[in-house]
Amino acid sequence: MKVLVIGGGAREHALCRSLSLDPDVSALYCAPGNAGIAEVAELRPVDALDGDAVAALATELGAGLVVVGPEAPLVAGVGDAVRAAGIPVFGPSAEAAQLEGSKAFAKDVMAAAGVPTARSYVCTTPEEVDAALDAFGAPYVVKDDGLAAGKGVVVTEDRAAARAHALGCDRVVIEEYLDGPEVSLFAITDGVTVVPLQPAQDFKRALDGDEGPNTGGMGAYSPLPWADPKLVDEVMELVLQPTVDELRRRGTPFSGLLYAGLAITSRGTRVIEFNARFGDPETQVVLARLRTPLASVLLNAANGTLDAEPALVWREDAAVTVVIASHNYPETPRTGDPIEGLAEVAAEDAPDAYVLHAGTRREGDAVVSAGGRVLSVTATGSDLAQARAKAYKAVARIRLDGSQHRTDIAAKAAEGR
Ligand code: AMP
Ligand code: GLY
Repeated sequence: MKVLVIGGGAREHALCRSLSLDPDVSALYCAPGNAGIAEVAELRPVDALDGDAVAALATELGAGLVVVGPEAPLVAGVGDAVRAAGIPVFGPSAEAAQLEGSKAFAKDVMAAAGVPTARSYVCTTPEEVDAALDAFGAPYVVKDDGLAAGKGVVVTEDRAAARAHALGCDRVVIEEYLDGPEVSLFAITDGVTVVPLQPAQDFKRALDGDEGPNTGGMGAYSPLPWADPKLVDEVMELVLQPTVDELRRRGTPFSGLLYAGLAITSRGTRVIEFNARFGDPETQVVLARLRTPLASVLLNAANGTLDAEPALVWREDAAVTVVIASHNYPETPRTGDPIEGLAEVAAEDAPDAYVLHAGTRREGDAVVSAGGRVLSVTATGSDLAQARAKAYKAVARIRLDGSQHRTDIAAKAAEGR
């Protein structure tokens, strides 16, 4: 099978790495890709938001499966355009991707499906904003209704800041604050059958100790030794299956990757948000642990035959990924800096540790930074402590001027805290 992956971050590198190891995959393409993905897939330039262009490329390549990585193309209907060209797509329709594209839509689906989530108000006027802020009190949680590439959510004790963010959006969801640890649980679905993956935890803040600004994610690990062993079953029953059933009932079935961002609160598990695609950087650790070849699972989801897929097989290993970000990330990341040490990791640390590229490109013989998150250094080990040690050993070999990374990814969990 020929597979085309759309996107060009570390998530797509992780997807391409797994697909490249799958004997069912005869040719692998990625558009637009990045310098690291170029080592496992053939890159093609494309405007990932242009459905007709992606469909034409998939047709030209003879792709038997298109995997759409990021949310923006899904919300823009790229999946629909490729499906209309008769090619199976892993990724939801634009309508179903509204589960991520609109926080208000997601809340409506959750209410209809009885899925536990924070109580919320959808507000469009300053009066409604004030009433909602007062109803919940601090800490305030204010979410831009639309896609905002990780910048749409403000959580703050400062009422004026919460109000200012709300008034800067056309439509906002203001909701109750949820405390407790966060878990990301992904499920693959064809719109009927739902297959959960292993849970992971993401580190959203830029600095050690969960300080500093929110980011796209600075690291992740899996499994979660502290989590209730029944968590996956519980979330399947209370969240994932009811959500998939509700979208099918509405005539907009969701196929692809359903990502539940969860808070484990003292009053039970609550959904913080849904995403309509694999999470980044959690995908890097989840796929590092998956033994089952990926292509047939994704194709069965795309074709509506996921019930025929045998149970997924997981490694006993733990996985940790540490993101190396550029100077001044997330505010105004500097790009164009040369990256050194990649060959040393490949020579000394593989196969247990490897570097997945996020924002990189090739400039002559050099690989240079091309985004805020630059690399996602991933390692597996017999437990989290070992996986962590291997990941940080590889991180130490990478030289990128002005770069930053967190030093405490998975530290608490590895110590049993
Ligand atoms: P999102 O863009 O929806 O992933 O939100 C970004 C981050 O904001 C989440 O990972 C949480 O850390 C935080 N957040 C979102 N909603 C809430 C909430 N209701 N209570 C507490 N924190 C939240
Ligand atoms: N890890 C957060 C996200 O992918 O949205």
